[in-house]
Amino acid sequence: MTETKKLALMTSGGDVPGLNAAIRAVVRTAIYYGFEVLGIQRGYEGMIDGDFIPMHSGSVSHIISRGGTILQSSRSERFRTQEGRAVAYQQLQAAGVQALILIGGDGSMRGAQLVADESDIPVVGIPKTIDNDLTGTDFAIGFDTAVNAAMEAIDRIKDTARSHNRLFFVEVMGRNAGYIAMQAGIATGAEAILIPETDRDIQILYDNIERKKCRADSSYIVVVAEGDEAGGAYQLAEQVKQKWPELHSGVTVLGHIQRGGSPTCFDRTLATRLGVAAVKAVVAGERNIMVGEQKGALTYTPLSEVLNRPLEVTPEMLEMLEILSQ
Ligand code: F6P
Repeated sequence: MTETKKLALMTSGGDVPGLNAAIRAVVRTAIYYGFEVLGIQRGYEGMIDGDFIPMHSGSVSHIISRGGTILQSSRSERFRTQEGRAVAYQQLQAAGVQALILIGGDGSMRGAQLVADESDIPVVGIPKTIDNDLTGTDFAIGFDTAVNAAMEAIDRIKDTARSHNRLFFVEVMGRNAGYIAMQAGIATGAEAILIPETDRDIQILYDNIERKKCRADSSYIVVVAEGDEAGGAYQLAEQVKQKWPELHSGVTVLGHIQRGGSPTCFDRTLATRLGVAAVKAVVAGERNIMVGEQKGALTYTPLSEVLNRPLEVTPEMLEMLEILSQ
């Protein structure tokens, strides 16, 4: 009789819409290939505590449309320590885990690399982050839903800004990267977009305010990524107020609204494709890689090469921002 292989699955780091769709795809594909599946609850924290649950096809019914993660998640300080990791590996071994699939962002992938280096358990990663700033995939799970949530919120703010000729600073997520700010800003016709990857954007904003400030139709939307070097929306509003005290401005920080909610069709299908691909990678004997999609093709990137990917700011992009803000 052949032994049933045991595969463990976890979500790690900040949650994103589409995690449940990926969990569903991994669990069902793993069962299809004859694996027994264990869900690790609360990410690396649950790995250290041995908080594992058996998962069946029915455990993932009706979750494809739900935001958050049924396995819950964490950012684990204990896993950063050697002692914490040693306990985690003992827990995996005691549970008979022979392969690990981890759905996470760059920090979680670095953790996955440690599991690969320090234990014998092969690891396959699936990329997720609303910030979309990961190498090895064109899109990470969660970005599309988050950027659409930001777009819808900014559209609403625009209506009121326009009605009162007000200047609005809207802060979107993006600790190190401006993907959400750039896409949501373009899609809402924002007058200025400020992102961490360039410091030229603030001058475009100042020139634009200077140029438009006397116009009767002068409402402005400024979309700023939380990690911009000028600071978040409140700091930026303060700087503008010092220069143009007569302007009537408002500030909205979208925050975690961008992380919740039902995933878009794009995120559900991406999560499903990557979930199936991750299990197939395990079946094919791949180890210590992250699956991704680049230029429409499925790719494997060694975990050690998964890095932060800042948004590439081209001269064309800066020119486009200037043209559109006229
Ligand atoms: O990395 C994704 C992200 O949503 C960032 O954009 C944001 O800065 C961070 O997570 C917020 O993390 P937390 O929910 O732990 O405050």
